[in-house]
Amino acid sequence: MSPTVTILGIESSCDETAAAVIRDGKVLANIIANQKVHEQYGGVVPELASRAHQANIVPVVATALKTAGITKNELNGIAYTRGPGLLGSLLVGTSFTKGLSMGLDIPMLEVNHMQAHILAHFIEREEMGWKAPEFPFLCLTVSGGHTQIVRIDSHFDMEILGQTIDDAAGEAFDKVAKIMGLPYPGGPNIDRMAREGDPHAFNFTEPAVDGFNFSFSGLKTAFLYFLRKEVKADPDFIEKRGPDIAASIQRVIVQILVKKMVYAAKTTGITELSIAGGVSANKELRKTLADEAHSQGWNLYIPPFEYCTDNAAMVGITGYFQFLKGQFATQDLTPSARLQFGKKVT
Ligand code: KG4
Ligand code: ZN
Repeated sequence: MSPTVTILGIESSCDETAAAVIRDGKVLANIIANQKVHEQYGGVVPELASRAHQANIVPVVATALKTAGITKNELNGIAYTRGPGLLGSLLVGTSFTKGLSMGLDIPMLEVNHMQAHILAHFIEREEMGWKAPEFPFLCLTVSGGHTQIVRIDSHFDMEILGQTIDDAAGEAFDKVAKIMGLPYPGGPNIDRMAREGDPHAFNFTEPAVDGFNFSFSGLKTAFLYFLRKEVKADPDFIEKRGPDIAASIQRVIVQILVKKMVYAAKTTGITELSIAGGVSANKELRKTLADEAHSQGWNLYIPPFEYCTDNAAMVGITGYFQFLKGQFATQDLTPSARLQFGKKVT
């Protein structure tokens, strides 16, 4: 039997300070400290995010170790998010990891945040019938900063088939929510509100974008003009029709995402499909894609909610696979706000 491998994962790319302990592919602890400080500004304030990471990182890691029931001396490696993300935020996780790795004399593993969202599918779960996607599979990675369709041939062989040419899907959710006066982050609020509304109450035109690429900025502008016009005619329009507005704009965003994914599956012939990233927590997206996959006879893999939005378990599992391959990071590596991964096809 191979020896046990225990990895500490650290995530600090945006506004979540997170630490997780992964042992042999299973999660022993997954701790997240959300930063409430940004709510009053309607979005993440980078400088405040770095400061909050500094305050949170030691207690979050301590809680993760305690929850896992282990001491730091039982760790074999530390995986951290090197990028992409906010530079000041990434620096906190990187510096902490470098110090702890040196102090414990164990290797560091550098993780790409977007790759980690995808590899969250490989976190071993106890539940009945759980299985990871089979290679090759496609992943629709939808977060606050990215919208990509990725082809995955192995844990580390990934190819970006298409991506957004302007705003990300999460950004579109957050921006339309802001226009409606809903608090940040807007995505979960639109999702909740939409459940009470009629998705066909209002129509918004879907953008025409080539290949596997996406665009959301035109939709956001159209939404702004639509609301301005309606509110001018009736100042209580949003109050009266909030759920219908949320459900209608959500339907279009989901349609754009699902249609491209279906197109990608049909074009590549790959029928193992998955979703990842914060927006994959969206109920309507999960349901629409599941219905589509079911009707086509395709397999769809959806991570549990806690592994969709930013978390350190996904960083830990990515580091775990790197550890098994002996792919270690060096102390001279700096964080990268625009870290890329995989081959790009455009
Ligand atoms: O992956 P993530 O947690 O952080 C980034 O790497 O960006 O994604 C955050 C994004 C935000 O834009 C948030 O509004 C969106 O995911 N999001 C949602 C939902 N939950 C989070 N969007 C729609 N519906 C949701 N339920
Ligand atoms: Zn993310």
